[in-house]
Amino acid sequence: MPSNLSATSPLYQLLIVDDSPTNLDLLLATFGASYELRISIDGQSALDIISSGYLPDLILLDIMMPEQDGYEVCRKLKSTSVTSNIPVIFLTALDSCEDEAKGLELGAVDFITKPFNPAIVRQRVNTHLELKQHRDQLQILVAEKTREVTEAYEDLKQIHEQMLQQEKMASIGQLAAGVAHEINNPTGFIGSNLNTLQKYVVKLNEGIAFMEKAIMATDDFDVISQLKKMKRQLKFDFVLEDIEDLIGESKDGIERIAHIVRNLKSFSRVEDDTLKLTDLEECLEGSLSIAWNEIKYKAKVNKQYEPLPQIPCLPQQLSQVFVNLLVNAAQAIEDQGIITVITRREDNWAVVEIADNGSGISPENLERIFNAFYTTKEVGKGTGLGLSICHDILEKHQGTITVTSKVGEGTCFTIKLPISNS
Ligand SMILES: Nc1ncnc2c1ncn2[C@@H]1O[C@H](COP(=O)(O)OP(=O)(O)OP(=O)(O)O)[C@@H](O)[C@H]1O
Ligand SMILES: [Mg+2]
Repeated sequence: MPSNLSATSPLYQLLIVDDSPTNLDLLLATFGASYELRISIDGQSALDIISSGYLPDLILLDIMMPEQDGYEVCRKLKSTSVTSNIPVIFLTALDSCEDEAKGLELGAVDFITKPFNPAIVRQRVNTHLELKQHRDQLQILVAEKTREVTEAYEDLKQIHEQMLQQEKMASIGQLAAGVAHEINNPTGFIGSNLNTLQKYVVKLNEGIAFMEKAIMATDDFDVISQLKKMKRQLKFDFVLEDIEDLIGESKDGIERIAHIVRNLKSFSRVEDDTLKLTDLEECLEGSLSIAWNEIKYKAKVNKQYEPLPQIPCLPQQLSQVFVNLLVNAAQAIEDQGIITVITRREDNWAVVEIADNGSGISPENLERIFNAFYTTKEVGKGTGLGLSICHDILEKHQGTITVTSKVGEGTCFTIKLPISNS
């Protein structure tokens, strides 16, 4: 073991390049016992050994050799990144200052002149090996630290992006809550006024029909022809018929606005958060009846309920999840289809599946469907908040919602809820 190196040091590999048998004998005697040695008697064979994959810890290099001198070998070694870090010590009979300067300029770590003292050569070799060992360790450390810093930077970047996203969602939430609040009130009274108006129109129609009958029953042809003229001019029959259509459409519009307001309110979460033990089957049945208007002309519902224990949840919010999934399913069916609703138990999870054989979702869109405001539906038909709300509601329940889908075949949403939250 070299004297300056630690007891744990590996057996160092030295490459000796020298064409003088006397020097080689001396070097073998100096290093043979404690180092793994390889010998080359000319520059080219030394370069060949190295290019075959052998990378020594240090090279002792003679300068004056036939064909390719030591300077040339050193220059080649220093010009490639794989070998540039191998310390080279020149061992040479050349003893001028210029030769030494040239050797060191080429990148050698030391320059020892012959004849040499074996003890001094060994000492210098050990010093350079030790330096190389430290340098290698330092490089590993730097690489490790660089990796750590890069990872930390990536983590920070991700946290920063998440925070930005959260901030953005929080301000959208506030905005949504504000808009919902402002719209809620007028929507309420317009809706109720429309209902009253509808009842008034029925009464008006009855009254008009009665008066019309009374007028037609008189013998006064003048009044009768004036009535007929007035009806023609004012397009009375059409107006009476159209009033009902207009009120119906307006009620439909108000229902759409109410749907948007409900979604915006849920999105900004201004609700009671007390868990209640709930029967999922009941909750699903309730949701089916809420969504029935959307489903009835589009799909048959195939129910496969397995008995489940009651689970602690926010029933209204779960119902909102089911309604959105059922409405989405119905809207994904073009003509006639099947919506399958399944409940089952998996270990400590209550599982609900809502599947349809509708249009399906392409893989690139599948990644986006849970994003707030992502919708492929026409303006007024979808806010794109439904699935984002479903996702948040399930997160709040420590549950999950996942989806599988195939374009042209259909979509299946799977909800998992913990049977006990304790
Ligand atoms: N069962 C389904 N089949 C096909 N596409 C679906 C299905 N469910 C959701 N999607 C797609 O995901 C999008 C987002 O759905 P989400 O429920 O979040 O919003 P929306 O239904 O468009 O609007 P809203 O729920 O406010 O009425 C839909 O527009 C649709 O493109
Ligand atoms: Mg929806």
